[in-house]
Amino acid sequence: MKLPDIIEQKIEEKIANIKLNDLKQISNNLSNKYMKEERKGQALLSKDIEAISYSIIRMPATYCAVKMVLRQSLEYFSECNSYIDVGAGTGAASLAIIEDLNIEKGLCIEREEAMQNLGKELLDCVQNKENIDWISLDIEKKNINKKADLVITSYMLNEIRKENRLNIVKKLLDITNKILIIIEPGTPEGFNNIRKIQEYAVENNIKIIAPCVGNFKCTLPNNDWCHTTVRIERNKIHKYLKNGDAPYEDEKFSYIVLSKINNSNKLENTNERRILRHPIIEKGKITLKTCHDGMIEEVGITKKQKELFKIAKKIKCGEVIKGEF
Ligand SMILES: C[S@@+](CC[C@H](N)C(=O)[O-])C[C@H]1O[C@@H](n2cnc3c(N)ncnc32)[C@H](O)[C@@H]1O
Repeated sequence: MKLPDIIEQKIEEKIANIKLNDLKQISNNLSNKYMKEERKGQALLSKDIEAISYSIIRMPATYCAVKMVLRQSLEYFSECNSYIDVGAGTGAASLAIIEDLNIEKGLCIEREEAMQNLGKELLDCVQNKENIDWISLDIEKKNINKKADLVITSYMLNEIRKENRLNIVKKLLDITNKILIIIEPGTPEGFNNIRKIQEYAVENNIKIIAPCVGNFKCTLPNNDWCHTTVRIERNKIHKYLKNGDAPYEDEKFSYIVLSKINNSNKLENTNERRILRHPIIEKGKITLKTCHDGMIEEVGITKKQKELFKIAKKIKCGEVIKGEF
């Protein structure tokens, strides 16, 4: 997967007059900030060149992560006509939503002007009939007085002060008519944020659509975490800025999709299991680490289980497998 060509071209235009060495320096600083700085609600990127650098080194991965989440639960989003993208950045989630869902109205909420400006320019390249507005707002300081069918926040929650994160999730639930998607980096900290939201959803009877199969307490041990992986094609400039030659990179992310509408017939499919790790493929046997009704289990599928074996051969970490085990 990769960003649409038209977006890559626009970003290339934006860097035409910037020295690549300067951009590399900024990108390194940005990566360091994201890796090392303690998150206390402070701005991590606020200059135009930082926004451009983000659009090259991070946006392809965050866009692809959103695409994966949308694709895995597409049937639940078909009735969403409007969305709000909170901490929209350079528009990665909005871009994926515009492409994959039949949306009429969108709202991007973002605190940093530089991110908003670039996000607007990039979305303008793909916007068709959709009506998309931007609001400059710090979600820790102000409430959003609009609602939408679908609310999404990708890679934003971990930038909020720890003690405020669950309150922000409650705010997001308040402005959600139907579905709320929260995506976090696939790190122990990112998963921990998702795990707390999962707990909150179970305690408050809010339907979990994905990745959990059913509304059960998460039983993963504290030193383990649940994540999904998406493979992203890397272009020349991405390779240069990130000092790598590999033609792709794997983005790990943790996420949760919550529903405020009753969709019980879709949710009670108890023979579904989420794949938690890369399948172990041996001769005549595939071992899957799965989550099913909150229980973590390793299941072995042998060649004798013909249909299931065929499916298991193609299944990837993060996907759902259905069948009798
Ligand atoms: C890592 S970026 C993610 C951007 C985009 N959602 C994506 O997936 O690529 C986090 C974004 O959240 C924004 N953000 C962080 N805290 C915020 C807050 N309190 N209110 C509004 N936006 C915030 C940042 O300015 C930044 O643009």
